[in-house]
Amino acid sequence: TGYTSYDPGFVNTAPTSSGITYIDGDQGILRYRGYPIEQVAEHSTFLEVAWLLIYGEVPTAEQLEAFDHKVRRHTLLHEDLKRLFDALPHSAHPMSVLSSAVSALSTYYGDSLDPKDPEQVEMSTIRLLAKLPVIAAYAHKKSIGQAFLYPDNDRSFIDNFLWLNFGLMAEPYKENPVLIQALDRLLILHEDHEQNASTSTVRLVGSTEANLFASVSAGINALSGPLHGGANEAVLSMLGDIRDSGEGVHRFVERVKNKEDGIRLMGFGHRVYKNYDPRAKLVKESADAVLKELGVKDELLDIAKELEEIALADDYFIERKLYPNVDFYTGVIYKAMGFPTRMFTVLFAIGRLPGWIAHWREMNQDPHLRIGRPQQLYTGPAERHWPTSR
Ligand code: CMC
Repeated sequence: TGYTSYDPGFVNTAPTSSGITYIDGDQGILRYRGYPIEQVAEHSTFLEVAWLLIYGEVPTAEQLEAFDHKVRRHTLLHEDLKRLFDALPHSAHPMSVLSSAVSALSTYYGDSLDPKDPEQVEMSTIRLLAKLPVIAAYAHKKSIGQAFLYPDNDRSFIDNFLWLNFGLMAEPYKENPVLIQALDRLLILHEDHEQNASTSTVRLVGSTEANLFASVSAGINALSGPLHGGANEAVLSMLGDIRDSGEGVHRFVERVKNKEDGIRLMGFGHRVYKNYDPRAKLVKESADAVLKELGVKDELLDIAKELEEIALADDYFIERKLYPNVDFYTGVIYKAMGFPTRMFTVLFAIGRLPGWIAHWREMNQDPHLRIGRPQQLYTGPAERHWPTSR
């Protein structure tokens, strides 16, 4: 009390210590529990990294198998919960469907809501990891008016997710190791990013002793905005607009620099990375691999590459240290895989879930935990008298 530091956007405020993820924005370094992201992306799988983030170490083969087994056992959604989807319009944004259904999960699992009970926390962790991809796939199927499929628990985590999205379509779903590996890698790259807006939201909500489902649902809503996870969707709309308008990439970049209508180059810039985003490099490699595998020639990828080249050589972007971020190329890949644009941020949410869980659990084990309650600088009127004669 007595001293309030004014810090809009929390640029200089560290409300917590954390042992999960390390970022050096000037040098473009990202590490999960000490392991460089490049090594993590090359050698691991999504659930392995989830374990690493949540429990702190790389799992042994037995630990991973047991974890994978548990997650597979909890993929089914309660049939009543499935009817929640009927109450929402087909036009609903899948991110709103996702956050609503996650919030609703807490109404089914009263036995795993207590943040102070380790067994309950473990149970809600497994339930969320297992059910979020299923809810996400149902949000997709709902938006295209198709029947929901039951999870096929003989399939691996990523394969099952792709099956739930693309099974029983006109084009039969075929397990494709290149696509499975590419999606696995993209989700790994999204798993954690220390105190970003959605993770900070999960922590703030969790600091009130709200349950994990409620905290994650809030995180999904925070992620939905175009300056955060919503950027991957915004990038694709931007690339499509550039193509359709025929104005050319140079003209578009000029409009961004002139801040016409406040437009930004979506997928560029980052609060912490001022050199490059190490994830963007890895995503760009995947974009080339996936499009080649699928034999897709997407002119949006060409526009993206041209945009990147022009921006990286332009003083406006150089002076402001603006580089492609993780979202710049992900949309092109998701599109090639067959996901509609409105599903892109949902994929980000599946990727980020282990990070949210890891932070929520770390916070709840912190003996210094206090409810999050920022200060403000009051700028309203001084005391005045209510107008009794009007
Ligand atoms: N295009 C054009 N100009 C930009 C951009 C951009 N993408 N990003 C920042 N700038 C300019 C901004 O106008 C400002 O210029 P000036 O000093 O002349 O006013 C300067 O760069 C600093 O911008 P800022 O808004 O103060 O930077 P920030 O650190 O508060 O914002 C950001 C970071 C990511 C919100 C921002 O760079 C942005 O809006 N990028 C586009 C959206 C995007 O791609 N978001 C995904 C982020 S990565 C995934 C994730 O973590 O969610």
